[in-house]
Amino acid sequence: MNGDVDISAVAGEARRVLAANRQQGTSAWGGRTYSFVCPSPRSYPFQWFWDSSFHAIALLCVDHELAKQEVRCLLQGAQPDGFIPHMLLWDKAAHAAALDEYSIVLADPFYTATVQPPVLGRAVWRVYQATKDRDFLREVLPAVLRLFRWLKAYRDPDDDHLIALIQPDESGLDASPKYDVLMQLGELPPDQVLDGLRASMNRLFSAYEAHREDPGRLLGLDVFNWEDVMVNAIYADGLQCLGRLCREAGYPTAEAAEFERRGRRVLAALEDKCWDERSGVFWDLYGYDEQRAHTLTFTSLFPLICDSLDRHMVWRLVEEHVLNEREFWLPYPIPSVAASEPSFDPEHKTGVTWRGPTWVNANHYLYWGLRAHGYRDVASELAKRTIQMVGQGGIREFYNPYSGQGQGAVDFAWTCLVLDLIHAEGWGCGCGREEKSAHIEPFTR
Ligand code: GLC
Repeated sequence: MNGDVDISAVAGEARRVLAANRQQGTSAWGGRTYSFVCPSPRSYPFQWFWDSSFHAIALLCVDHELAKQEVRCLLQGAQPDGFIPHMLLWDKAAHAAALDEYSIVLADPFYTATVQPPVLGRAVWRVYQATKDRDFLREVLPAVLRLFRWLKAYRDPDDDHLIALIQPDESGLDASPKYDVLMQLGELPPDQVLDGLRASMNRLFSAYEAHREDPGRLLGLDVFNWEDVMVNAIYADGLQCLGRLCREAGYPTAEAAEFERRGRRVLAALEDKCWDERSGVFWDLYGYDEQRAHTLTFTSLFPLICDSLDRHMVWRLVEEHVLNEREFWLPYPIPSVAASEPSFDPEHKTGVTWRGPTWVNANHYLYWGLRAHGYRDVASELAKRTIQMVGQGGIREFYNPYSGQGQGAVDFAWTCLVLDLIHAEGWGCGCGREEKSAHIEPFTR
C-alpha cells in the first residue's frame, strides 16, 4: 500500500466523532444520570459494553476525565452478583425503535440479559496506565473483578477455564460465519442471511425462555454453547490486567496472584484445546462435546493479544496467516473473515456484520499483540494501513478490505481507536503533539 495520509485530518475526525456521539441526561431508569459515547447516534444510540471499553481507550487521547467517565457510566449497569449487561438502554424514548430493530432479550426494561467480550479489564488497565489515578482504580476495580468472577461462575460449566457464550452476539461478532453451523445459515443466498439470522435468534430465545431465571441453566441446554477463541483471548488478557491492577490498588498479593493464575490457565486451555498444529491456527469449540469450528476468521489469530502465547504459535500465526495475502494480509488488513473462506463477503452483500470487512477494534488489539511479540514492523504497517483506510473511508463501522471503502454505520465511535494507533506510532494524537502527514512506503520484509 502506497500513498500519503493526512494524519491530522483523521485525528480531527476521530475527535469530532467522540464529541458528537456523546449522550447525556437523566434516565427514567431510577433517575440515574448518564454521560457516555454511543457507537453511532443514528444506528446505535445506547451504551454497549465492549464499545464503551474501546471508547475509554480512544478517549485517553482526548481527555483522561472523559475516559474515566465512560467506565463509570458503564459500571452503573453492574449487578450485585457481578453481571454487567451488554447494552444499557438509557434513553426510554428510543426503546420502542430498538426493540423493533435488534434481536435482543432484556433482563430489565433498561438492560439486556447477555454479555459482551470482557474488554473492560484491558480498558481499565489502559486508563490506569495513562492516569495513575489510584482513587479511580479503587473505585472501579471491585465491579470489574466481580464481572470476571461472574463469568467463571456462570459461563464455565465444564470447568475447563474457557468461558462459553449462549448466543452469537455475546462475542460482539453477531453474524460471523463461524456460527453458521449452529445458526443454520451456511446454505442461504446472501439476501436471505438476515432473515435466517433473525429466525435462528428467535429459535434460541424460545429455547431459553423458560430458564431465564437461572442463567446457569442456559449452557446446559446445549442449544448454543460456544467457546470462542477471541472472547477467551480477551478474557485471558483481562485477567492478567486485573492481576496487575490488584497489585497497583494494594490488594492482598493472593488476590492479584489468583487473577494472574486464572489468566495463565485460560491461555493454557486455548493452547491445549483450540490450537491446531496442522493448520497453525486456533479454532473455536462448540457444543458440550467441543467440536472444532473450522471457519477461518480473525478470531483464529486472536491469542496473539496475549503476551505469553507460545513463541512457536506466535510465529506460525504471523508468518503463515497474518501475512498471508490469500487470507488476511489484504490491502486493508485484517479482514474479519479470511479471503480464502467461501463465506467471505468483503462487499457486505449479506447486509449483516462480521462476514469479511475489516474492523478497527480487531486491528487495534492485534496491533498491540504484534508489538508485544516483537513484530514491530508488521504492527507499524498494520497501523499505517488502518489509518489510511479510515482517512479514505471516513469514521465508519467497518471497511472493504480491498478498497478501504467505508461500510455500515457512519460516525462509528470505536473506529476512533485510530487515535491510539496514531499516538503509539509517534505521530501525536492531539495530546499536545502535532499530527503530521505520513508517507506510506511499500511494505517489505
Ligand atoms: C453491532 C456489533 C457489536 C457492537 C454493536 C454496537 O451489533 O456487531 O459488536 O457492539 O453493533 O456497536
